[in-house]
Amino acid sequence: METIVQHGDKTVLVLGATGQQGGSVAHALNAKGWRVKALVRDVHSSKASAMSANGIDTVRGDFTDMQSINIAMAGSYGVFSVQPSSGQGVAYGVTDDDEIRYGKAVADMAAANRVHHLVYSSANAAGPNPTGVGHFDTKSVIEAHIRGLKIMHTIVRPSAFMEILMLPGMGIDKGVFTFFMRPNQYMQFIAVADIGNIVAEIFARPTKYDAQTIEIASDSVTGSELADKFSKAAGFPITYERFSDTLLEKNAFLSNLARLVDHGRLAGNADLDALKSKFPELLTIDAWLASSGSAALKAAIHAKNTDVSLR
Ligand SMILES: NC(=O)c1ccc[n+]([C@@H]2O[C@H](COP(=O)([O-])OP(=O)(O)OC[C@H]3O[C@@H](n4cnc5c(N)ncnc54)[C@H](OP(=O)(O)O)[C@@H]3O)[C@@H](O)[C@H]2O)c1
Repeated sequence: METIVQHGDKTVLVLGATGQQGGSVAHALNAKGWRVKALVRDVHSSKASAMSANGIDTVRGDFTDMQSINIAMAGSYGVFSVQPSSGQGVAYGVTDDDEIRYGKAVADMAAANRVHHLVYSSANAAGPNPTGVGHFDTKSVIEAHIRGLKIMHTIVRPSAFMEILMLPGMGIDKGVFTFFMRPNQYMQFIAVADIGNIVAEIFARPTKYDAQTIEIASDSVTGSELADKFSKAAGFPITYERFSDTLLEKNAFLSNLARLVDHGRLAGNADLDALKSKFPELLTIDAWLASSGSAALKAAIHAKNTDVSLR
């Protein structure tokens, strides 16, 4: 039977709270009246201070000091778990082994602390068969570990974020947007804001989502459709091309991702109709471009002559 949690007195510990996913989840839970404890590495950072000003408790913790996370978790009803990955390059200096160790340890601690509901954020390419891409296969290992624990849990597998479309170097400034899919191939994307709203709904209905693995996305578009949407929002013509063979030949990281998009795995297989009925607030690309994506689009238009920063 589906139970809706009376959550006013319940605390969710949100990891990665100064980041995209954790920030979105902390914001959505806070807006819906949950008590949120945001795990941050620096309680004095501007992002941590902004969260405190919004009524979110911040608590210091670091994956490299698991005891700090254990202390932060004590008494929490729920935990939102997300880890940085090797796919983010040098940003966090995390190896695939680190990511697996952190993700498993958080789940073990949640079970040991008798946390009621663990929500783990994976990625859409994760699954039973390896992809050959380190930072996706890490997530499959963490997922399997969580499924083996005695804890109520839900695994979400987000598609590529809409936000990455606006990373510098993709050519929007030159009027030629380049990305992974073929011009007429569909790829799914999720607005980071939707991750928070979906996860908040999952925490509100734990029995409905217990032991489920849900691939999540907000919209599905072809390369050519994206270019049309970007042109309309930017006010000047933008065409679409797949990343060039020359670029893919010299960049093994991008080439591996392109291979997974070609095979469909990274293009996404979320059931958008089912998601829309469960989570009606999902943002289409158009709606995202008209809201939080607007500033990102303006920045991309003015980011002149940069290399592809996706790595
Ligand atoms: N980009 C995509 O399209 C996409 C799609 C699906 C899945 N993913 C996955 O999403 C994950 C990243 O999530 P995100 O984009 O939300 O991350 P993000 O915005 O880069 O933020 C990373 C967060 O992790 C925190 N962090 C870094 N090192 C830490 C440590 N040693 N201890 C504690 N916290 C630490 C950061 O805190 P500080 O502020 O202190 O640095 C920050 O809050 C990756 O695993 C990636 O593979 C990405």
